[in-house]
Amino acid sequence: MNILLLGSGGREHALAWKIAQSPKVENLYIAPGNAGTCLVGKNVNIKADDFPALKEFALSNAIDMLVVGPEDPLVKGVADFFVQDEALKHIPVIGPSKSGARLEGSKDFSKAFMMRHNIPTAGYMSVSAENIEEGVAFLKSLKAPYVLKADGLAAGKGVLILDDINEAIDELKTMLEGKFGDASKTVVIEEFLSGIECSVFVVTDGKHYQILPEAKDYKRIGEGNVGLNTGGMGAVSPVPFADEVFMKKVEDRIIRPTVEGLASENIDYKGFIFFGLIEVGMEPYVIEYNARMGDPETEVVMLRLKSDIVDLFEGVAEGNLDSKQVEFDERAAVTVMMVSGGYPEAYEKGKVISGLEQVENSVVFHAGTSLKDNQTLSAGGRVLAVSSYGKDKESALAQSYENVKKIHFDAAYYRRDIGFDL
Ligand code: AMP
Ligand code: GLY
Repeated sequence: MNILLLGSGGREHALAWKIAQSPKVENLYIAPGNAGTCLVGKNVNIKADDFPALKEFALSNAIDMLVVGPEDPLVKGVADFFVQDEALKHIPVIGPSKSGARLEGSKDFSKAFMMRHNIPTAGYMSVSAENIEEGVAFLKSLKAPYVLKADGLAAGKGVLILDDINEAIDELKTMLEGKFGDASKTVVIEEFLSGIECSVFVVTDGKHYQILPEAKDYKRIGEGNVGLNTGGMGAVSPVPFADEVFMKKVEDRIIRPTVEGLASENIDYKGFIFFGLIEVGMEPYVIEYNARMGDPETEVVMLRLKSDIVDLFEGVAEGNLDSKQVEFDERAAVTVMMVSGGYPEAYEKGKVISGLEQVENSVVFHAGTSLKDNQTLSAGGRVLAVSSYGKDKESALAQSYENVKKIHFDAAYYRRDIGFDL
């Protein structure tokens, strides 16, 4: 079959790498892709949210399945666009409808959804221009630190955690006045939860689900988890505290109620659900949902997924995911992200990357790269995800770090402490 994958990051290179291993695949296209995805498929110069161009490409290349990597096209309704188009509706889409993508696209929606289905999450209040005073009163009823979240997508920057009540009240007002544009016209104020985080992933056909390997990502730029938030500086799988007892609670209290809740509300959802969890006193709570896989978690989840991912996708499309098997690799998998100096603030792109051909026993997923005159150049903040297996996370990390040292580009930075807290 012919598959079209949307996106251009490390997540998409890892998905493409895994999809390309399936004997079911004849042609894999990635739109727009990066300098890594073209090693396992063919890049197509179309933006992931250019729906008319995707239509034309899908029809003229006999595409049999669309797999959506990032949230943006999902929230903009790419799945609905395919389902509602006479010429495209035979092409299954791995990715939820616009309505389903609200789990990620609207914090207000996702919090209310969790309340309706008794899914454990932090207490909250949604605030807009009409009820600022109530919002201020709710903030004052909470203990520090204070959590403010823009309702809509804000490129990963829409969550503020503040220690001072007056600063929190000021920020609430600034957000409602448009600090994050329309995304913060509604703000979710949350109770602060203290614990260790972990990402759990399922793939669902809307009725059944299969649980994928869990992972922990490292969001802060600095070693010891300090400094600004990034898209993710590394990831580890498995996560030791996500043992059988914990995962059973996650499945019973969070995963099953979520999938059943979506079905009971007639929300069309075929694709990945990413549960951002926090463990508070051995109990799991949902910090956030995402309507896609995580990045850099995918770079380790794909290493540990032994089953044919295209077979799983067929189960999603056909609604018989319960008949499929998911097998995990027993080994540990880790990824270490090499980023551009300055990231997540201003950084330079276009740096020549050397040493990639010297890498041994790791898989380098490209996160932000491009090709020019046969040279691989940096093209984003996160540049390369150096990913490895090991009998345990220590040996996997040693493998990744050995290869990180062989790769060079101007002002490259990476964290040397991935996995330190597990
Ligand atoms: P989100 O975009 O909702 O995942 O939030 C980004 C990060 O902020 C999370 O990964 C957590 O580290 C932190 N965070 C979000 N909500 C809370 C909360 N209610 N309590 C504690 N930390 C939180
Ligand atoms: N690594 C977190 C995310 O993909 O949102």
